[in-house]
Amino acid sequence: MDQAQQLRNVVKQKNQESILEHARIITITSGKGGVGKSTVAVNLAIWLRRMGKKVLIFDADLGLANVEVMFGAVPQYNLSDLIYKGKNIKDIITQGPMEIQFISGGSGIAGLSNLTKDQIVYLVHSLASLNDMADVILIDTGAGISDNVLEFVLDSPEIMIITTPEPSSLTDSYSLLKALYRNPTFSREKAKIHVVVNKVNSLEEGEAVFSKLNSVVSQFLSGTLDFLGMIPQDQELENAIRSQKIVSLEREKAPSTEAFRILTSNVIKGEHEQIVVHRGITQLFINFLSRK
Ligand SMILES: Nc1ncnc2c1ncn2[C@@H]1O[C@H](COP(=O)(O)OP(=O)(O)OP(=O)(O)O)[C@@H](O)[C@H]1O
Ligand SMILES: [Mg+2]
Repeated sequence: MDQAQQLRNVVKQKNQESILEHARIITITSGKGGVGKSTVAVNLAIWLRRMGKKVLIFDADLGLANVEVMFGAVPQYNLSDLIYKGKNIKDIITQGPMEIQFISGGSGIAGLSNLTKDQIVYLVHSLASLNDMADVILIDTGAGISDNVLEFVLDSPEIMIITTPEPSSLTDSYSLLKALYRNPTFSREKAKIHVVVNKVNSLEEGEAVFSKLNSVVSQFLSGTLDFLGMIPQDQELENAIRSQKIVSLEREKAPSTEAFRILTSNVIKGEHEQIVVHRGITQLFINFLSRK
């Protein structure tokens, strides 16, 4: 039996069990690297905790393991250990600050194309249990339009694109959005695309960046973007990162800390719009695996 057939069986079984996908999934991505995805993921997680949400960060970046560096916590196991070594989901969850949980995809993501039925069943069921552990799951992806990143993004009910005012970041954001909208499996009705403008020098600059991106997306791709907020270029944030600290946790008065608070309350305001059932973490992985 090939992976596609095995998946159809798993989906059938999953639908019969009708797993309620409670956790809200937000996939954080960008066209260009180094624009602040992991920074946003980690600070958003801190504020979501402060606002009473249970949070899990899934580090799906195949490159540098950013989140663990920022948390200063080295995970003992990653997704590969669950798939290939029979570890259970609790074994591969690492505790960060403020009870933020995180999972490192590690090399497990790259190996997702070649799983046996038993491995698929085990993976999907393990992921389903995250729904009880988290209100919000933040997926931190690598940058760009590589297949793995795009497929994660394609299947996400909520996509958060991080861009900066740099022209190259804007053009790369547009390229990513174009790849997304033009992909036949992307459903614009089922996904919400949020934009966060990072490293801005003023409110006006942040708004101008969003409106530039939004106007090309609406003109050429007939798409609509949601402006979630902006984060200033902040020396205190840079200093915090350099000393392996999280600005929202350690520098209460930093301009970026306040901006992350506002950003997070905007995220929470959008909560009621999410499509809860059948668009959760297990569905995301099932769709992802179906294309392999
Ligand atoms: N608002 C900000 N103000 C100042 N510096 C920032 C800000 N946001 C991010 N940075 C700087 O940019 C660097 C890159 O940020 P980060 O690692 O979050 O980007 P990334 O998009 O996750 O990168 P990658 O694509 O490599 O995963 C940080 O180390 C930090 O120094
Ligand atoms: Mg990163």
